[in-house]
Amino acid sequence: MKILIGCETSGVVRRAFAALGHDVWSCDLLPAEDATNRHIICDIRDVLGDGWDMLAVMHPPCTRLCNSGVRWLHRAPPGKTVEQMWQELREGAALFSACWNAPIPRIAVENPVMHKHAKRLIDGYQAPAQTVQPWWFGEPAFKGTSFYLRNLSALVATNRLTPPARGTDEHKKWSAVHRASPGPDRWKIRSRTFQGIADAMALQWGGAALAEAA
Ligand SMILES: C[S@@+](CC[C@H](N)C(=O)[O-])C[C@H]1O[C@@H](n2cnc3c(N)ncnc32)[C@H](O)[C@@H]1O
Repeated sequence: MKILIGCETSGVVRRAFAALGHDVWSCDLLPAEDATNRHIICDIRDVLGDGWDMLAVMHPPCTRLCNSGVRWLHRAPPGKTVEQMWQELREGAALFSACWNAPIPRIAVENPVMHKHAKRLIDGYQAPAQTVQPWWFGEPAFKGTSFYLRNLSALVATNRLTPPARGTDEHKKWSAVHRASPGPDRWKIRSRTFQGIADAMALQWGGAALAEAA
C-alpha cells in the first residue's frame, strides 16, 4: 500500500510499515530525526490528495483540543490572550478536520479525548474508536492513546503486561511519559509513538490490507 504517516518526525511508525514492505512516507513541518529520504517536509494538507491508500496521523498538535487544555479557553496562560487561545483551537480543529475528512480510504488519527468546543468545530466528528495503552503491546508504560478510525479495525492487544501497583517505584517508572521534566524536548518525549503500538498498527492494519489484496 501507499501510506502516509502524518505529523511524525521520529519515524517510528514509518519504519514499522516499511518493515512489511509498504511504500510508506512520513511528513511533518520539521525534518525527520533519522535523515531518511522517505520524509516530506510540508504542511500535511498539501499532500493529502496525492493518492494514498492509508493515512495515519500520529498525534497532530492537540494542546488546544484536548480536555486538559479547556481551562485556557476561559483564562489564558501568561503572555497569551483568550482570543489567541480560541484562534489556536480553531487552527487545531481545522487541521484535525482536514486529516479526518481526507480523500483516503483508510484513516487513523491519534489524538487525546477532546472537549466539547473542539468536537463542535470538527467536520463530521465521531468519538474515538478506542483508547489503548502501551502496556497492551508489551511496553512497560502508561499513556492513554485514542485512535479515531475510518475503515480500520480497532487494534487488538498483542502482549498485555500486568501494570504495577500504585505508589511503587515500578509504577513511577511506567509513568515516565507524564513525568518528563520541562525542557525544549519535552513535547517530543511525550508524543513519541511506542514501538509496540507502531508494530501492532503495521501488522494489524497493513497486514490485513496485504491479505485483502492477495
Ligand atoms: C505531537 S507531535 C507528534 C510526534 C510524533 N508522534 C512522532 O513520533 O514523531 C506533532 C507534530 O506535528 C507536526 N505538525 C504540526 N502542524 C503540522 C502540519 N500542518 N503539517 C504537518 N505536520 C505538522 C509538528 O511539527 C510535530 O512534529
